[in-house]
Amino acid sequence: MSTLELVGVTKAYGKTIAVDGIDLRIENNEFFCIFGPPSSGKSTILRLLLGLAHPDSGKVLIGGRDVTDSPPASRDLAMVFQNLALFPHLTARENMAFPLRERHETQAVIDAQISNVAEKLHILPLLHKLPGQLSGGERQRVAIGRALVRKPSAYLMDEPIAALDARLREEMRVELKRLQREVGHTLVYVTHDQEEAMSIADRMAIIWKGRVAQIGSPDDIYNRPVSKYVAELVGSPPMNFIEGTVRSGRFQADGIALDLPLAGLIDGRIILGIRPEDVAVSSAMPGQKPSGFSIFETEPLGAFSIVDIIAGDTILKAQVRGHAKFPLGQEVNLHVDPSHCHAFDPINGANLLLNGQR
Ligand SMILES: Nc1ncnc2c1ncn2[C@@H]1O[C@H](COP(=O)(O)OP(=O)(O)OP(=O)(O)O)[C@@H](O)[C@H]1O
Ligand SMILES: [Mg+2]
Repeated sequence: MSTLELVGVTKAYGKTIAVDGIDLRIENNEFFCIFGPPSSGKSTILRLLLGLAHPDSGKVLIGGRDVTDSPPASRDLAMVFQNLALFPHLTARENMAFPLRERHETQAVIDAQISNVAEKLHILPLLHKLPGQLSGGERQRVAIGRALVRKPSAYLMDEPIAALDARLREEMRVELKRLQREVGHTLVYVTHDQEEAMSIADRMAIIWKGRVAQIGSPDDIYNRPVSKYVAELVGSPPMNFIEGTVRSGRFQADGIALDLPLAGLIDGRIILGIRPEDVAVSSAMPGQKPSGFSIFETEPLGAFSIVDIIAGDTILKAQVRGHAKFPLGQEVNLHVDPSHCHAFDPINGANLLLNGQR
């Protein structure tokens, strides 16, 4: 029930700058994901919010109040750590009761809260067990439960479901999203899984080398990435990138037969970006002019297939519906919708079509 803010925060460990001048404002009751590659500073951001790390410069605000110098206990945040630590000698139930006992809640309140949360997390039958008797996934759910039994001003979770298997992870993320909506609390959720971030976040921050690369809704990040770096990080298979030249409103790729109208750009070198789902493929007709594209590999994945198309030494990926029936080596035509193309600066990676240029 609180906003969380980092204002110009930097945190270094020796020579490593873990967080580099970050400004971040997480709104009240928002499901906010922090997404980025390993060692980008995600956990450090949570530790700064929680008060386990002190910024070298900048401020931390909770609910508009400056808590930069306040101890963790006074910040009223509940945390699920990346390397979760349950008390090994306490049962799952007593682990979950712990934060409530610390707050001197009555046994009736403790029992009611634990039953309520345990039911939602499907761990009711496990409550009598010790952590050593639980699987990794079960332990993770108990750790989430321990955070959820409290009613803090915000929840912070660091890769809370990373140890679960894929199916359970999908279930849990839907469940967490629902729980967060029901409870109506601010939740900051760190993940290195882009699909997970895209599927649950109201808004997300992409962190790169201790900096914010972009903040926005999953739709913003996916469809309006500010840079090639962000574009590459979200979406699977990743966006295709093709170098080439723009001249008088047309894009001409280097070395491959791709020539498109592309409005809104000044003449010069660009990197064209096109997502696999925006590339359509059709068989070449007998007698047509050679297209220069042929099938390199197809990967049927049930509802859709990933088709790798080779042209010279460039491989482009297309995502097509259903089971792709192209024989290997077959010549094909590519269809790219220019209105779905992105254009990036080859030097600094900036998205050249944002900011009203198109
Ligand atoms: N207590 C510490 N002492 C020294 N260096 C640290 C400490 N905590 C973090 N770092 C360094 O700061 C950088 C950012 O670490 P952080 O744990 O925030 O990354 P992360 O994005 O959470 O990574 P991961 O995805 O691997 O969990 C890393 O280079 C890390 O080695
Ligand atoms: Mg981490």
